[in-house]
Amino acid sequence: MTQDFRTIIEPFRIKAVESIPMLDGPTRYEALQRAGHNLFCLRAEEVTIDLLTDSGTGAMSSRQWAALMLGDESYAGSRSFFRFETAVRQLTGYAHIFPVHQGRAAERILARTILKPGQIVANNTHFDTTRANIEQAGAIALDLPTSRASQTRDATRFKGDMDVPALEELLAQKKTEVALVMLTLTNNAVGGQPVSMDNLEKVSQVCRRASVPFFLDAARFAENAWFIRTHEPGYQDWTLPAIAHKMFRLADGCTISAKKDGIVHIGGVLATQRQDWADLFRCEMILGEGFPTYGGLAGRDLETMAVGLEESLDADYLRYRVRSIAYFAEGLEKVGMPVVQPPGGHAVFVDAGAFLPHIPARQFPGQALAAAFYLEGGVRGVEVGSLMFPDSRLQLLRLALPRRVYTQAHIDYVIEVAERIVAKASLLKGYQIVHEPPFLRHFSATMQPFES
Ligand code: F0G
Repeated sequence: MTQDFRTIIEPFRIKAVESIPMLDGPTRYEALQRAGHNLFCLRAEEVTIDLLTDSGTGAMSSRQWAALMLGDESYAGSRSFFRFETAVRQLTGYAHIFPVHQGRAAERILARTILKPGQIVANNTHFDTTRANIEQAGAIALDLPTSRASQTRDATRFKGDMDVPALEELLAQKKTEVALVMLTLTNNAVGGQPVSMDNLEKVSQVCRRASVPFFLDAARFAENAWFIRTHEPGYQDWTLPAIAHKMFRLADGCTISAKKDGIVHIGGVLATQRQDWADLFRCEMILGEGFPTYGGLAGRDLETMAVGLEESLDADYLRYRVRSIAYFAEGLEKVGMPVVQPPGGHAVFVDAGAFLPHIPARQFPGQALAAAFYLEGGVRGVEVGSLMFPDSRLQLLRLALPRRVYTQAHIDYVIEVAERIVAKASLLKGYQIVHEPPFLRHFSATMQPFES
């Protein structure tokens, strides 16, 4: 068995390749200037290794490409819908299943149908679009991470957990105002850290006792299931689908961006056990996404999603996936770049605040490091710090790994880029904003570096 070897190989071989741009330093410098020093504003053709996100950037398998040809494009009741519905029902066990074009569409439908102004949604940590959709409905998005989540050097497992005593306290004081409790798996905003089954069970019990609905934001359910199997006592002999099924059954429903663990370029899921909410979702679907059996997608997209959701729980794939992230993190630490510990499931988060102590949070050390990675080697990451969240406690740079796309040599190259940056860290400059939009400023703000 290959599991007995020290080297964990990519459990696939490559059938189609895509050239990546190789640019020289002056070209990168010019591109960054033109983009207002915002990596979101670069053309993808100006990027050599694109670690901006793991969302919609994965490589589909030959089975998925083959499934694409089986798409039934009927307006209503297409065969592809039933194929999709069966796959999601097997995964989650939920009764009512809706396809949507991506995760935020599911969040929007949920927020618009069940939230009233002033109500509270509690989450281990809201992803930014989840928060924005809740706030758009006039409700309050409350984050309840554990205190370990912000300790970047604390390498204990399951730092994505929710603070259960804080949830109990909230429900003791404001039960009637809490419309929904959510758990984000894995907890993206705090480093792609998983949530333990123990925490899922406790949150579920607290919600059931208080009769408060409980949903999962399950974009990275498969990576979360892998961490439970490998690090939580009692699950070593469980199959990954059994672990995932148990996670979903502890909640009343879920939103899923299938662009992550579902390994599709576009697609998502909204599902629930509740008949009353399903009726509300169905009406809202028609206003925005489309008829409930296609939901803003083509039949072929439903086919690829069905296959992707199944492939996501393959043990060989997840072993390789999580090992790649750990390998990347170890390499960065070895050359002197501190990363959030322990490594999560989809990205490495560099602690830019600790790495660049001479740049204060208000001058965006994560952004300074993001620009350095691009200028040095054409590597694109994303700042997750006070540029993205103005009151952020952490100043991070996220380097997210698309699924099944880059090889170990690509990762070694990025580590070498990091090594060069380490040698000149004290010379890196902070940034100031030149122009910013009224909200979600990190996507389009223009910036410039401070000259010493
Ligand atoms: N929930 C989580 C935890 C996410 O990470 C994302 C997207 C969404 C919901 C929204 O899904 O993009 O399909 O609408 N995260 C991407 C990222 C964009 O880069 O982390 P979507």
